[in-house]
Amino acid sequence: MLTRFDDIPASERIIVALDMDAFEAYALAERLRGRAKWVKIGMTLLYAEGPAIVSAFKKRGFNVFVDLKLHDIPHQVAGAAASLVECGADMLTFHTVGGVPMMSAGQHSVEDRAGVLNVPCPITLGVTVLTSMDADTLRATGVERPMADQVRTLATQAREAGLSGVVASPQEAAMLRELLGPDALIVTPGVRPAGADLGDQSRVATPKAAFDAGASHIVVGRPITQADDPVAAFERIAAEL
Ligand code: C5P
Repeated sequence: MLTRFDDIPASERIIVALDMDAFEAYALAERLRGRAKWVKIGMTLLYAEGPAIVSAFKKRGFNVFVDLKLHDIPHQVAGAAASLVECGADMLTFHTVGGVPMMSAGQHSVEDRAGVLNVPCPITLGVTVLTSMDADTLRATGVERPMADQVRTLATQAREAGLSGVVASPQEAAMLRELLGPDALIVTPGVRPAGADLGDQSRVATPKAAFDAGASHIVVGRPITQADDPVAAFERIAAEL
């Protein structure tokens, strides 16, 4: 299926996950500046540095994906989502297992706060089943149905709540593209170039396979950040596409 992301250059569809300390993150960002468009700030960096870290990367010219996977009662998630809009997030995540009322509260709060601040509404994503989980780990949490069914159900709920898209494994991207249509954001972590170390990831695919399956963006952390030459690793992935 053709999507509205097909004409966007590959370098703008790779999101580099900065799961490291601020010193290393700034050094890496300096090297990626002008090449990568998106960086992802997760719990590691944001909890250490606070929300100001978001504007620090925006000032360096990056779009910032703040990936905190919000999951709490709707009132709390609405407040947290508004705070993330305040700190300048361009993309943010809710955990879909919090349910439709939680995600809807978050989505409304994002739209309201962006309106008040008169800034573009950030992209909102629902995290389905973590890419580190395999079928056994999922079953151990009490979910008896197959992985793909669980991902499909959670993605449907993210859409019902009005989110811009989902986070899922590249292995589910084709099914999700079919389900959500050509305009949905489908962001896939769990991306490993052929032969790369899997680390704690389970449901993986190569960058090219992820895009061929319909991912709008891929999230790549350690294969870039822990490479001997992170810039070369980034360029290699972009060229592969
Ligand atoms: O280093 P690696 O490429 O495995 O990093 C993947 C990134 O994507 C991490 O920052 C992780 O928090 C994030 N992520 C994930 N699986 C999800 C959602 C986000 O691995 N389902």
